[in-house]
Amino acid sequence: MRRVLIIGIGAGNPDYLTIQAIDALNKVDVFFIPDKGAEKAALRDLRTGVCARFIKEKVYRFVEMAVPQRAENFSDYKANVAEWHADIEVNYARLLREELGEDECAGFLVWGDPSIYDSTLRIIENIHAKAEFAFEYDVIPGISAIQALAARHRVPLNRIGESILITTGRKLAGGYLEDADSVVVMLDGEQAFKKLAGDFQIYWGAYLGTDSEVLVSGRLSEVADEIAAIRAEHRQRNGWIMDSYLIRKIEK
Ligand SMILES: C[S@@+](CC[C@H](N)C(=O)[O-])C[C@H]1O[C@@H](n2cnc3c(N)ncnc32)[C@H](O)[C@@H]1O
Repeated sequence: MRRVLIIGIGAGNPDYLTIQAIDALNKVDVFFIPDKGAEKAALRDLRTGVCARFIKEKVYRFVEMAVPQRAENFSDYKANVAEWHADIEVNYARLLREELGEDECAGFLVWGDPSIYDSTLRIIENIHAKAEFAFEYDVIPGISAIQALAARHRVPLNRIGESILITTGRKLAGGYLEDADSVVVMLDGEQAFKKLAGDFQIYWGAYLGTDSEVLVSGRLSEVADEIAAIRAEHRQRNGWIMDSYLIRKIEK
């Protein structure tokens, strides 16, 4: 029976790999490695690097997979993403059918944790449900950018007895949710924090866990411009950026 392991590799630092993830790496015959955009080389190096470092005796191979681009002009965001995922699904299904032997194990190395803002689980679940060919699959959790952010700033995500909302820059740009306590923001290409009105504390981090890691924290009104400038500079220098932040109202 074909087997698929969806392995969370942590968000940037190879030391974030869990022992369960390392055991899983050592079972994989073929790793499907995404080939995508400007961040391609750095992220691919991290993926191939963890294999070189943690796989001891197993013989394995890499197969590059083209990642279709999401259409840029759309009116319905969810429909746009669904269409994009359908394209990726076709690719994944073909790879599993054509590149994976009947008794082999495939590995998808998912950045951070596979359950957080990542489509791999949904796509593999869809392929599995269509049952065009048989395979079983498992998920190995990883250290997400959220945990890395909190650890590097040495802060708890929640205040006592309060909740944590995990959301995107796109949602935050629609307005800070009045009854939200602590908010973790990911996928914020627009820097939605710049438009927030009110007194907030922000903990921002980019390239967490990597040699390029940058951290800034402070009162939003005092550090927002600094974050925007650092972000622009690093994005320009590296050609890509991944940043996240925790934000909450300052208690009176
Ligand atoms: C597609 S989501 C993937 C999240 C991932 N599954 C996780 O658990 O961290 C990509 C977003 O995660 C955040 N992110 C991932 N890695 C990061 C890192 N090393 N430093 C800062 N943010 C990161 C950024 O907000 C980025 O836009």
